[in-house]
Amino acid sequence: MAEINEVNNKNIPKHVAIIMDGNGRWAKQKGKLRVFGHKNGVKAVQSTIEGAAKVGINYITLYAFSTENWNRPQFEVNALMELLVDTIQKEIATLNKNKIRLQAIGDLNTLPKKAREKLQNAIDKTAQNEHMTLILALSYSSKWEIINAVKEISNQVASGNISSEEINEKLIDNSLSTVGIPHPELMIRTSGEHRISNFLLWQLAYAELYFTPKLWPDFREQDLYDALLSFQKRERRFGKTSEQITEPN
Ligand code: FPP
Repeated sequence: MAEINEVNNKNIPKHVAIIMDGNGRWAKQKGKLRVFGHKNGVKAVQSTIEGAAKVGINYITLYAFSTENWNRPQFEVNALMELLVDTIQKEIATLNKNKIRLQAIGDLNTLPKKAREKLQNAIDKTAQNEHMTLILALSYSSKWEIINAVKEISNQVASGNISSEEINEKLIDNSLSTVGIPHPELMIRTSGEHRISNFLLWQLAYAELYFTPKLWPDFREQDLYDALLSFQKRERRFGKTSEQITEPN
């Protein structure tokens, strides 16, 4: 596993997005209930955020609860919601100490009222922090977000505020819940699954994808550094040729 001093601090992605996967399998391997895996996932979250703050990542987005996760057994949904909001509440002091601002994206109206209030409280209490932004994707799905953006833009066209000719990438960016946040340059998914699973489909258009077989509860800051080393070895061409990237004009 990589150490922090192996990471080139001149080539750090501004925004890293993570699909934290494998909590259930991790618990099952230990003969425990799935919720035990989610609880242990919190340690991975803490270590990863600590590592991200140390290397100077500006934004980190964690896929904490997808729209599809509402279809899990009610017991697991309740336990997960409780764990998420309790952890957020408990971490406010640490977030402030490390100057980390909390934000959330997703259909937050679908969260239980109490969870929504606690989440909003943590967002408000950390709003002034400027070292790093931690974005939790909660009740989030990219298709939901894109549908909302399309509705908003169509309303603007219908009301005559803009013409359809004015629809461009910037307008779409500004209509998504990630407005103002740079697109992730690196997306990490744990647990050996090679899918994007309805996560930031528009925003990940040019992201480097990194997959690790590690299950989320075992993921630590050194695993983040491994992902960063892999990112730093890649040539990001954005549709250009290799020569255009490496040779000055
Ligand atoms: C995926 O594993 C994980 C989740 C759906 C929830 C992630 C939540 C946490 C790690 C809790 C703490 C998070 C924060 C931000 C405080 P899975 O259940 O899909 O695992 P499986 O694929 O092995 O079944």
